[in-house]
Amino acid sequence: EEGIYKYYSEGEWKKSSSGKSVAIVNPTTRKTHYKVQACTQEEVNKVMDTAKIAQKAWAKTPLWKRAELLHKAAAILKEHKAPIAECLVKEIAKPAKDAVTEVVRSGDLISYCAEEGVRLLGQGTLLTSDSFPGNERSKYCLVSKIPLGVILAIPPFNYPVNLAVSKIAPALIAGNSLVLKPPTQGAVAALHMVHCFHLAGFPKGLISCITGKGSEIGDFLTMHPGVNCISFTGGDTGVAISKKAGMVPLQMELGGKDACIVLEDADLDLVASNIIKGGFSYSGQRCTAVKVVLVMESVADTLVEKVNAKVAKLKVGPPEDDCDITPVVSESSANFIEGLVTDAKQKGATFCQEYKREGNLIWPLLLDNVRPDMRIAWEEPFGPVLPVVRINSVEEGIHHCNASNFGLQGCIFTRDINKAMLISDAMETGTVQINSAPARGPDHFPFQGLRDSGIGSQGVTNSINMMTKIKSTVINLP
Ligand code: G3P
Repeated sequence: EEGIYKYYSEGEWKKSSSGKSVAIVNPTTRKTHYKVQACTQEEVNKVMDTAKIAQKAWAKTPLWKRAELLHKAAAILKEHKAPIAECLVKEIAKPAKDAVTEVVRSGDLISYCAEEGVRLLGQGTLLTSDSFPGNERSKYCLVSKIPLGVILAIPPFNYPVNLAVSKIAPALIAGNSLVLKPPTQGAVAALHMVHCFHLAGFPKGLISCITGKGSEIGDFLTMHPGVNCISFTGGDTGVAISKKAGMVPLQMELGGKDACIVLEDADLDLVASNIIKGGFSYSGQRCTAVKVVLVMESVADTLVEKVNAKVAKLKVGPPEDDCDITPVVSESSANFIEGLVTDAKQKGATFCQEYKREGNLIWPLLLDNVRPDMRIAWEEPFGPVLPVVRINSVEEGIHHCNASNFGLQGCIFTRDINKAMLISDAMETGTVQINSAPARGPDHFPFQGLRDSGIGSQGVTNSINMMTKIKSTVINLP
């Protein structure tokens, strides 16, 4: 059928034999904007087989050549930034400028990864036996890093390009092959990104991209015996995958409920602008978004006033106009957010703005005087709705942060670096930002979550290491 984007297998663009497609609904118009192939289990099997074969040859390809191809892909990706960004605008309603930024950032990530990979993987260690008691200097152990095999990459809708390449580039530089299952919303942007790798001239079968409904091929992919590692970013599905996956290394980045702890001595203008950036950029649909403000009572009125003044200036509307607040990804997401708002209303939260929604578009909303009995104090809205919990001691703030199921990032605002360090040590999250909103980047920084927020650590170097295994060769002297 015409108008259905093809999937990528064996270095070719193909139609699925299922004859079925999956619709991608534009969040702004709520109409089908694109269609992708609904791949079958047989097609998954084919991709896994070719990935296995392609990986063997790729692992023998000189490291500098692998890096060269990645640099080429990065350059092509950047050349294609406009059409890919256009897909992001239509598929996930990402504001136009942010959509371009996502593609450029992805190109930079690929190049950085190529450079990091040639250094990191181009050297190993040598151990001698005589350092362990009872041994002569008769054994030399040569340690190197070898690829894992076939990596399955599953990125989420909010960064279909960037969180795909953050898995693809480390996998490839380390000598692995890669099977990508993009999110449905964002699949066309991902296919276009894969096309850039195709144009760069990677060997056939080394990269594949399977599209389809997670409910139909998700388990088949994640439980497939041909998979040697899963790198997943997303929500609760990650917990289910972790339980079902076989004996393969997992890299999981799941939800977050990043707290912003504000002390009495904080620069409140700085806090307000970071709350706006952290809480409302991409309409709060980032796992690292500020998702709860924990502010000392004595400065709460002033802070809320400053944040409200900035909320009033946020441009609400379509992503094409580069508005700050754009429609959330789906109707079900908008309904979920509304459920949290209704619950907070019933339990007596203070609405700093009127709650307003048109279709999937939800106006930015700050909820003051949120208490721990409200769902929004703990749950992740993934929307432009931000709760403020007033606290009377720093300990109360730390306690709230640590009582969360999530432990991705958090931030502290204070002018006292000593206090900030003590609070950072007490916060049980993967990263703590001092005097700035949480964020994953720059992309070579380690990125990890505690508890339900994830398994393992990302960031360029950690991902390369995670997608390799240690191999030793011992030379035994007579
Ligand atoms: O939500 C995905 C997560 O990786 C966030 O990235 O760059 O928005 O902090 P970033």
